[in-house]
Amino acid sequence: MYQRLPEPGGMPIPFTLDGRRLEGRAGDTVAAALLAAGVETCRTSAVGGAPRAPYCMMGVCFECLVTIDGVGNRQGCLVPLQAGMAVETQLGHGKRELAR
Ligand code: FES
Repeated sequence: MYQRLPEPGGMPIPFTLDGRRLEGRAGDTVAAALLAAGVETCRTSAVGGAPRAPYCMMGVCFECLVTIDGVGNRQGCLVPLQAGMAVETQLGHGKRELAR
């Protein structure tokens, strides 16, 4: 459904989604790299478990929440992709640090 514009350049940036190796490009956000790789579900809703996908791509809708390197509730559209990132699909409320 999503395609990159035919622009030259953009160094390949390897990362993983749920352990699967994917590749983005330099300058991508995590959400942009996921969409360009054909990933359309980055989280499930907290109540019904419905699949959700990035929507606004500018930090407003919170539909792009993912877990990045073990930290949940990260807005994928605001996080620049970095080599070696371990991105996980966020299920429901996602991972949280609980206060003790
Ligand atoms: S896509 Fe809307 S906040 Fe990230």
